[in-house]
Amino acid sequence: MNTVEVETPGGSYPIHIAPGRLDRLDECIPADATAIALVTNPTVAALYGARAEAALARTGRKIVRIELPDGETHKDWQTLNLIFDALLEQRLDRRAVLVALGGGVIGDMTGFAASVYMRGVRFLQVPTTLLAQVDSSVGGKTAINHPLGKNMIGSFYQPVAVEIDTDVLATLPAREISAGLAEVIKYGLILDAAFWQWCEDNVQALRALQPEAVAYAIRRSCELKAQVVGKDERESGLRAILNLGHTFGHAIESGLGYGQWLHGEAVGCGMVQAAELSAEVHGFALADVQRVRELVAAIGCPVMAPDLGFERWVSLMMVDKKSTAGEIHFVLMPRIGQAETRTVPHAALGKVLERTVQTTP
Ligand code: NAD
Ligand code: GLY
Repeated sequence: MNTVEVETPGGSYPIHIAPGRLDRLDECIPADATAIALVTNPTVAALYGARAEAALARTGRKIVRIELPDGETHKDWQTLNLIFDALLEQRLDRRAVLVALGGGVIGDMTGFAASVYMRGVRFLQVPTTLLAQVDSSVGGKTAINHPLGKNMIGSFYQPVAVEIDTDVLATLPAREISAGLAEVIKYGLILDAAFWQWCEDNVQALRALQPEAVAYAIRRSCELKAQVVGKDERESGLRAILNLGHTFGHAIESGLGYGQWLHGEAVGCGMVQAAELSAEVHGFALADVQRVRELVAAIGCPVMAPDLGFERWVSLMMVDKKSTAGEIHFVLMPRIGQAETRTVPHAALGKVLERTVQTTP
């Protein structure tokens, strides 16, 4: 088993990475827990609900299963409230523990619910998509979407542990694997040129879910994310680089309507756009833009963005948590393995959108 430690002012906890972790969830429930709420969705419940429940049952605690509708379109207030309804109806107290069993949507909503239910109860992340295993379950960002902007309502709230069962990736559709790989390669691009190169060299093994390659990619991603979050839990500076490609990507997601493109697909395409912008204003080599485009295509994500119209692109990108005083801030690279946050002239943005948007004849 690989273990990565996350240390933040808001809480320190282990990330355990191994096949079969799902069958050992009882080991992660704090001894003083009074009850367990297993929050999941019907897709994940059908595959892994019974196994997770069987493991949790060994604690001898009452278990309440809460199934939320599946999908990004349900990451909203109405669905969040279903968690509170169940917790209150079942009279779970403030020593109850919430367990998020699912992808990033379930993890983000369960974490947010845990952060505000009775002013805060403990929760465990059990991420079942590659994207959630390498990114969303780590670092304590929780949120729901608003029709006007992605992840706009949420909190920073750390889990008590992250339990990554690498076996569960076997049932994940190929498109979801590609989306998760977008977040994996992101870490190389912003923080670790050697890891970027390793991803280029191992992309087919990763897409085929070759066990050693996947285990290494998950561990390295978690290590890199833990390093950043450990230095800047609440995104007062450094942590913003983890949003590479997200300013463009979030505009795609909210501009097309949540769920049309997967989050990871939008981030993958957004990284190509960020690479183009980095070349335009930050000296990023054109040969490296091509490497980014080729690796994003090789993991199976789109490299051309949808045509939302320039004005709409700009107004969508303004609704971003990195925007301050009416200015959009982009994560840009001077070279592979380094990143920083900058504002850019509108003219440069216009040129990049012209080059990266798929126009219909
Ligand atoms: P998701 O949660 O919608 O899961 C994708 C699909 O896979 C769903 O239909 C789900 O039911 C299904 N699924 C999950 N596990 C499965 C399995 N093992 N086998 C088969 N199907 C399975 O999407 P996601 O890509 O995991 O997460 C995207 C969300 O994460 C977005 O809302 C994004 O904003 C958020 N996110 C948050 C952070 C953060 O730091 N909190 C970081 C990145 C992304
Ligand atoms: N996914 C970006 C972050 O956690 O900060």
